[in-house]
Order: sequence, then structure tokens, then C-alpha cells
Amino acid sequence: MNYRHAYHAGNHTEVFKHAVLALILDRLRQKPAPFMVLDTHAGLGLYDLRSPEALKTGEAAAGIGAVLASGRELPGPYLSVVRPFTDRGLYPGSPAIAAAMLRAHDRIAACELHPEDVAVLRRNFRDDRRVAVHHRNGYEALLALIPPPERRGLVFVDPPYEKTDEAERLGRTLAAAVRKWPTGIFAAWYPIKDDAIGRAIARPLVEAGVPGCLKVELLRHRPDGERLAGSGILLINPPWQLDDDLRRLGGELLAALSAGQGRSTVDSLTMFR
Ligand SMILES: C[S@@+](CC[C@H](N)C(=O)[O-])C[C@H]1O[C@@H](n2cnc3c(N)ncnc32)[C@H](O)[C@@H]1O
Repeated sequence: MNYRHAYHAGNHTEVFKHAVLALILDRLRQKPAPFMVLDTHAGLGLYDLRSPEALKTGEAAAGIGAVLASGRELPGPYLSVVRPFTDRGLYPGSPAIAAAMLRAHDRIAACELHPEDVAVLRRNFRDDRRVAVHHRNGYEALLALIPPPERRGLVFVDPPYEKTDEAERLGRTLAAAVRKWPTGIFAAWYPIKDDAIGRAIARPLVEAGVPGCLKVELLRHRPDGERLAGSGILLINPPWQLDDDLRRLGGELLAALSAGQGRSTVDSLTMFR
């Protein structure tokens, strides 16, 4: 496990990923019944934007830094959730964003496999009884921890894509997971240098005929197979009319990132074969 998320926290793909996460959680908390968030690849939870790792790549400055400097607002609660952290020189990871949005009776199961990272994650949430940290393989947890007793919630899957077969594994695991929990919301993030990873995740879902899938992508520039052009999120059972919010988010985010050559799309999975 070589991947270290601290180099990338707060970059443009993170802003997109976490803005989508915040939109979904906002919908879930509109109903009074409790819900559960399973964060299969949780990372550290909190990142220091002044750390040597963040300063070395400058990715956060070009991501959340640029969005905040633009003075533009984004649809949904993302910026209001993130600002109290960035005001202190921090960037919140997915479990911290979820924890900031959950109510007292909702809960998070956060999985992290890296032994050092899981220790930091545990420390960051030691005072929050709603957050259970698991030192566990996220793919294995994905199938083991669903359906949750609450019967409502989100599975958020954000792997490092270090292994060549990771996308295929994710697609197969998601297809099996939907069979176990047909009404759960699933969101799986993927990087885009070309369309290989997105297609590999989608293939088992299309073959299994999983209904109600959306893919939402945001590209800063045209993919050339070499550089990170942007990222996508594959959504299963997205909340009703989330696609409208996602379209508005894509447009606003491209403007905030000054990505004049960029593109944002929201498609149903059948168009993704
Ligand atoms: C992209 S980062 C996660 C970032 C986090 N979701 C966020 O949005 O702030 C991926 C994380 O997955 C961890 N990881 C890698 N393989 C894993 C596995 N099989 N199960 C759980 N965690 C894993 C890595 O150590 C890394 O911290």
C-alpha cells in the first residue's frame, strides 16, 4: 500500500467528489428516519493544508483553494461544511464531511486498511460516538456490513486504484452489493485519464442489468491518457432528481475552477456501455 492521500486532499477531484457526497447526504437527512454511511476507503479524515505533502504537490491550492478564491457558491451544503475546516488550514476527508452532516441518530462505519492511517482516523473521531472506525478491507466490509439495520443510507467507495484489477473488482463487488441491498445508495469515485476505469467499473453493473445507475463526470480538460483530466462518480439508486442538482454543480464547479476547456456530464449508465 503505497498510496498516501495527504498529497491529494482538497484537489479538484476531491472538491467534485465531496460536493456530490454532500448533496446526497443532504437528501438523506431530509427524512427523519436514521441512516448509515459506509465509507469503505476512509483515509485519515482530516488533512493539514500546510503539511509538506500538501505544499509539495500544490493540488489543494489549485482545487479547494481556487474554488474559495473564486468567491463563487456551489449548489448544496459542501462549501458551508468545508469552510470551518479551511478557515483553520485543514481539509475534511469524506468521514469528516459525513460527520459534519449527520444528525445525532445517524452513524458512520469508516474502513481504512493502512495501519498508520487507521490510527490517525481513529484519533480524529475518538470523541464522536456516531463514527465506528474499522481496520478492515473496504471491499470485504462492503458486502459484510450491508444491508444496515436502518435500511437507509449510502455506501461511499473511494479506492486508490493502485492495483490494475481494482476497477473490475469494484464493479463486481458493487453488482453483488446491490443484490444484497437493492434500495441502498452507492457512490463509487474513479479518476479519469481515459475512459478505461469508468468502463471497467460499469461493465458488471450493465451486465447484471442493475437499474437506476447514473454516472457523473467532471473534466478540467480533454483526457489524453496521461494526465489526470478529472474524475467521475458512478451512482446507484441516486436520490430523486439528484441529476438536476448534479448538472448545476458541474457547471458551477467548472466556472469556480476557471476550467473553460472543461466539461461536465450526467448520463444514465446504459449510455456508458
Ligand atoms: C482516495 S483515499 C480515500 C479518501 C477519502 N475517501 C476521502 O474522501 O477523504 C483511499 C484510501 O483507501 C485506503 N485503502 C487502500 N486499499 C484499501 C482497502 N482495500 N480497504 C480499505 N482502505 C483501503 C488507502 O490507505 C487510502 O487512505
